[in-house]
Amino acid sequence: MTHASIVGWGKCLPPGVLSNDDLATFLDTSDEWVMTRTGIRTRRISHVSLGEMATVAAKRALACAGLAGRDLGLIVVGTTSYDDQCPNQASGLQRALGADGCAAMDVNTACTSFLYGLSTATAMIRTGVVRTALVVGAELISPFMDWRNRDVAVLFGDGAAAVVLQASERDEGLQLEKLGCYGEAREILRIHGMGGAYANQGRVLGDTSWQFEGQEIFKKAVAGMSLACEDVLSRAGLTADDIDLVVPHQANQRIIEFVAKRAGVPMERVYVNVQRYGNMSAATVPVALCEALEEGRIRPGARLLMPAFGGGLTFCAHLVRWGERTTPLDTSDAELPPCERSGLQLVHDLMVRKTRGAAVPTHDA
Ligand code: UT7
Repeated sequence: MTHASIVGWGKCLPPGVLSNDDLATFLDTSDEWVMTRTGIRTRRISHVSLGEMATVAAKRALACAGLAGRDLGLIVVGTTSYDDQCPNQASGLQRALGADGCAAMDVNTACTSFLYGLSTATAMIRTGVVRTALVVGAELISPFMDWRNRDVAVLFGDGAAAVVLQASERDEGLQLEKLGCYGEAREILRIHGMGGAYANQGRVLGDTSWQFEGQEIFKKAVAGMSLACEDVLSRAGLTADDIDLVVPHQANQRIIEFVAKRAGVPMERVYVNVQRYGNMSAATVPVALCEALEEGRIRPGARLLMPAFGGGLTFCAHLVRWGERTTPLDTSDAELPPCERSGLQLVHDLMVRKTRGAAVPTHDA
């Protein structure tokens, strides 16, 4: 049987840092509230497009794998915050990487998009459709944020990360997954103003209002992630003791702790970086994976469990067997352009643009 080894990984975090104290300068909130309810201390605000962040992450992942864009047979971009809906994000990345002619598709299941993309690409490698794939999780949430709404503005951040998959005879990579969706609860997380339903109605670009029932999302997140973990472990014939590291979606420290407790995995074997970045939606799991590797938390042959949930409300858990290599083959010199503005200044820029009703910009992907 052909497997899909994870042979490269790379991340891209924009430099603009937005702290809880920064948020408290324009919202009725505090570092103490946000820390105790979510575990988040800072998040990143991007000064560049989604495509630019995704390209840097992808170049780093390719260098890590010792591969070039032309080696790819497939690009999957998991995101909810496309630069454009047409043409899709993946085609822009194909061009930026020189991956001429390869298949290129976007997957949108909100925060689970990277993991749904990992399933898609792995299935295509297993069935022989392609031999090498890039899977990206990238999100540029800040332009779509309702910065007047403290219920949501404190929770999210921007970022991107990618992995490279390659056909292999070795039994590694994605082993088993559970994918699901509580469609009946989809209204508890809805971003009004983001999508075709709002086109041609005189609405200012990025003028969103978030329908967001935090406590209901919290309960569904814990239920869905726990169900998915249980399903995967029982089908794999494994117990919590067999899992070396849980790399979960990072939306809220308390959600992570509930899920770990239900799965029976002690927090020492759970990777958490929500304090640094908040919820980066599709980028969250691959950024956490990259940082767990950088920090030496993933040893050769490790078994990883990656549960996640997102708008929809989608949920999933992925069981991954890591390969022998935990360090990059090479590094890329790809960098974002420098940014003179702080995270707080970038948010102010976004708020001013929204008030003025900025025209729809055109850009090169
Ligand atoms: O990928 C999907 C993303 N979504 C999520 O992950 C959300 C999941 N839900 C959560 O993480 C939590 O429900 C929240 C962090 C959103 C909220 O925490 P909570 O413990 O459920 O708080 P709450 O909604 O029950 O609000 C408690 C109080 C309220 O005040 P009152 O009614 O008790 O006077 C809120 O108005 O906290 C108030 N509050 C805030 N106070 C300061 C809500 N947001 C804030 C804020 N700063 N940012």
